[in-house]
Amino acid sequence: MASLSRIGGRALADLLPDLRAMPGPVYSALSHAVSTLVLDGRIATETRLPSERELAVALQLSRATVTAAYDSLRADGFLASRTGSGSFVTVPAGSRPRPSLSRWSTSNSEAPDVIDLSCAALPAPPDVVQEALAAAATQLAPYLLGDGYEPAGLPVLREAVAVRFTARGVPTRADQILITNGALHSLDLLLRLLIAPGDRVITELPTYPGALDAIRASSGRVVPVPMAPTGGWQVGQLQATLRQTAARLAYLTPDFHNPTGALVPESERRDVLRVARQTGTTVVVDESFIELGFSGSERPTAQIDATVITVGSLSKPVWGGLRIGWLRASRDLVHRLAALRTSIDMGGAVLDQVVAANLFDRIDEIATARVAELMPQRDALVAALTRELPQWRTNLPQGGLSLWAELDAPLSTPLTLLAAQAGVVVVPGSRFGVDGTLERFLRLPFALASDRLDEAVRRLARAWALLDRSGLAARQLVVA
Ligand SMILES: Cc1ncc(COP(=O)(O)O)c(C=O)c1O
Repeated sequence: MASLSRIGGRALADLLPDLRAMPGPVYSALSHAVSTLVLDGRIATETRLPSERELAVALQLSRATVTAAYDSLRADGFLASRTGSGSFVTVPAGSRPRPSLSRWSTSNSEAPDVIDLSCAALPAPPDVVQEALAAAATQLAPYLLGDGYEPAGLPVLREAVAVRFTARGVPTRADQILITNGALHSLDLLLRLLIAPGDRVITELPTYPGALDAIRASSGRVVPVPMAPTGGWQVGQLQATLRQTAARLAYLTPDFHNPTGALVPESERRDVLRVARQTGTTVVVDESFIELGFSGSERPTAQIDATVITVGSLSKPVWGGLRIGWLRASRDLVHRLAALRTSIDMGGAVLDQVVAANLFDRIDEIATARVAELMPQRDALVAALTRELPQWRTNLPQGGLSLWAELDAPLSTPLTLLAAQAGVVVVPGSRFGVDGTLERFLRLPFALASDRLDEAVRRLARAWALLDRSGLAARQLVVA
């Protein structure tokens, strides 16, 4: 298999700690440091490493030292070499995660007093959906006279979505909108239409697991690009990966990214979009969390580049149970996607769409109330983590529903197993990456009331204290 992207000697040197300050011989420190970077998702699997000579120059080490380090990585299953295509990082066989876990397989979630932090989603706001449903019931009669099949969505809802885009400064006609059964459905339809088996799809690392599953289900090849340790994009790396891989598609979440809550500045979006245009990569931006910003938002990505495809949804601002989402694209693409849909589900439910159309006028009001509740919950979660688990590191989410905690040991999966017994359901960091990496991280939603978050963190801290770190090296690859 050819490597998907590559890292240069100097870039790798920048990521490495001071090898001479580490215990043991330098080659072993180098090997350990590289495998840690892979496991923590700082270097994506299938990235081609620099040649031994290039890295030796960048690190001012002897070539023999780098050769010994690469040999050691190879022996431990972290490096694979192909004649003519160099050495690329991988993870040892047997460490790859099964595609889905926790939420759908946890029998504990029905147990009393279990705190479920497996999902970054909120219950419906009081009364709002019922009121929209009551209004919809009075509006349904004319629809019942037709056949009810609308593959592109009900005109009234397409118009409502288009008006909202236009009000945000992205002029949009209703025929540029496809109504779907949620943002994930939007992405799935796009992948079905645009991706051929083996096509590369760039994602952030970490990213929304549903997107990773959808890309794999479409036989696309995920090309993950690590996010910055401080949150947000690594623009240079995204640009380099676009240039190196000629990816067909890039799936990005610059607005309150799941799981980190990061908001990417306009200038960085511009820089990445410019290169994507050059490489002919179609950019799909997921705006699922766009309404849940804590201190403002950025210019809409589709305003920066009109060729960007935007997917969105009522799931996060209003309620996931509505199963109403959309995508904004060119009229032609919307037409082709609607045609594709006639062989899949013939379109969404009319009643649900009439209900959704009634909610559109209230999104600002609903989102404002949501944010007012979420900010103190985020602060409560951060405060509880600082108090109970000060050795963990977190970045402050700028919006969304979750934060991304960096643990002081790569034991996210064992922690989730122990935490489930202690009455907290969490999803390990590895679920947000590929190949079992990101075991040093944990996604923690703050969608619950502050006292529940406090209690959840207390339970997590107890579970963390119980974890036996003695077998760390052997256990760091365990993935449930
Ligand atoms: C980034 C992102 N996109 C899409 C979804 C799924 O959204 P929907 O319910 O609209 O399909 C989620 C759910 O967590 C998400 O985090």
